[in-house]
Amino acid sequence: MREAHQDAVGRVDQQRLWQRHAEMAQIGAIPGNGVNRAALSAEDIAARKLLISWAQARNFSIGVDDIGNLFVRREGLDPAAPPVMTGSHMDSQPRGGRFDGMFGVLAGFEALEAIDDAGVKTQRAIEVVAWTNEEGGRFPPCTMGSAVYTGQRPLADFLDVRDNEGIVLRDALAATLAATPQATRREFNSPAAAYVEAHIEQGPLLENANKTIGVVTGIQGLRWFNIEVFGKTDHAGTTPLALRQDALRDAVAIINALHELTRDAADTVRFTVGRMLVTPNSTNSVASHVLFSVDLRHPDPATIDRLGKAVEPLAVKTAQQCRVRVTPTLHNNPCVFDPLIVGAVENAARELGLPNMRLASGASHDANYMARICPSGMIFVPCEKGVSHNEAENAKPEDLAAGAKVLAATLLELANR
Ligand code: GLV
Ligand code: MN
Ligand code: MN
Repeated sequence: MREAHQDAVGRVDQQRLWQRHAEMAQIGAIPGNGVNRAALSAEDIAARKLLISWAQARNFSIGVDDIGNLFVRREGLDPAAPPVMTGSHMDSQPRGGRFDGMFGVLAGFEALEAIDDAGVKTQRAIEVVAWTNEEGGRFPPCTMGSAVYTGQRPLADFLDVRDNEGIVLRDALAATLAATPQATRREFNSPAAAYVEAHIEQGPLLENANKTIGVVTGIQGLRWFNIEVFGKTDHAGTTPLALRQDALRDAVAIINALHELTRDAADTVRFTVGRMLVTPNSTNSVASHVLFSVDLRHPDPATIDRLGKAVEPLAVKTAQQCRVRVTPTLHNNPCVFDPLIVGAVENAARELGLPNMRLASGASHDANYMARICPSGMIFVPCEKGVSHNEAENAKPEDLAAGAKVLAATLLELANR
């Protein structure tokens, strides 16, 4: 590593990075040390404002696009050269942790500050992006901001998505954009030289292997669906079972059938129903309508394809009394990261003397979409017992700093290529 780069990487400040996590964790704090910072909520806006204030203090420029992806840019010697990008997300699950997503944004910002503190100039600009609605917990699907940014899905696909309270994304997005007027509007899909995302692993492999850095090779494939069951509401005490169109009864049958479809002795298939809306949701009324989610994942392209294609026919066949509608909301094939970025991350970890290993990601990330427009990769750090999407999510300050150092070294390398 060049001497100037070594100096910059050495300025990654563990205490500053940890302190920034603590400040962000106050926004939307929930009992048990977690956060509830739903996409495009008041809490999301507060996190955006805090990040913007830190960027302004450094004179970094701030941009935002029409889906609210927020960009912090440290200019390069060649402003016309496509930048190197990093980042992750600041929204969380309803009972989320302090590190999922936030670490990638703060590690990127820490890398920019360390490079700035060392007075190092890079050929290309480096941009830190906080993607909008990575989680999809409030407005499905996940990784929405990067899907739109990279041109994989039009913004119009998502403007009418409603949250559980009936709030339309279009309105929440307008309120978020209005709350951050400091950011200059920018276009989707401007050219990027590379994208590197840091994240906690969200699984136990690094911790079990005693490794500090995960060199991520790719992301498993996933399919999301909304399944709706249309029945008829009736009196629970009087209506004979044979005369009912019970939407919840059919929904349960469909879920059981999907569990059978996805049964896997190797325990590689991931199948989750995590969201269900029941109407009218009353103890003594037969359910007239049920909407539930399906999240299905597998690393093998043929397997995820086969399972994904089986969902709709199985749901329709299984319903006994009701009409069923299956709406696909996310369709991502397994992603393999560019060997150039995988190699750069691995080199940086080795040069810094950090124990590392290659691994694939079970969780999805915005890097999945960025990989379609530029060479992309990811850096994982361990989290306690692999727990994530849970308020107990935890990580060690020294591991977070190690990840930020690998990120800074990788960004410096790529920004001078
Ligand atoms: C992202 O949080 C995912 O669901 O993988
Ligand atoms: Mn995440
Ligand atoms: Mn997540």
